[in-house]
Amino acid sequence: MDKKVSALLNEQINKELYSAYLYLDMANFYASRGLDGFSNWFEIQAKEEQDHAMLMYAFLHNNDETVTLEAIAKPDKTYSALSEPLAAALEHEKYVTSLIHTIYGAAKAADDFRTMQFLDWFVKEQGEEEKNASDLITKMDLFGSDARGLYMLNSELAARVYSAPSLQL
Ligand code: FEO
Repeated sequence: MDKKVSALLNEQINKELYSAYLYLDMANFYASRGLDGFSNWFEIQAKEEQDHAMLMYAFLHNNDETVTLEAIAKPDKTYSALSEPLAAALEHEKYVTSLIHTIYGAAKAADDFRTMQFLDWFVKEQGEEEKNASDLITKMDLFGSDARGLYMLNSELAARVYSAPSLQL
């Protein structure tokens, strides 16, 4: 594998694990506010990020590449309003999309078709992640300012269940 592509995928394992940590911190914020549904939603989000990291980990190993695990940064955001983690989550997903696109671009430049095919799933996944984050902001704007609406939204988010990623390696 091209050294730059391999290095970027290694870095992305760390970024995905950081994403998991960031979302766990958001789950933690909502749990402390008594919003178990919002907390559940972000706990599942955190699990999905760990899955993303493990897919990259397995892909590198399957291609005889070395995996190097670096320190995971502390989530350094603080939230006060209930809507703040939602906005931060969308912003973060847009950032992750840009990272995936950078790796894709490097793979393309190196004619690394296998990595491009692997990343196709992530390109699509990022579109879904951004939509989910954006939809949540819309719902919060519409219903979150009134106690009954917030209760209903929290109940909806409590129903989210984890499912393993559709990508098989
Ligand atoms: Fe791993 Fe939320 O993207």
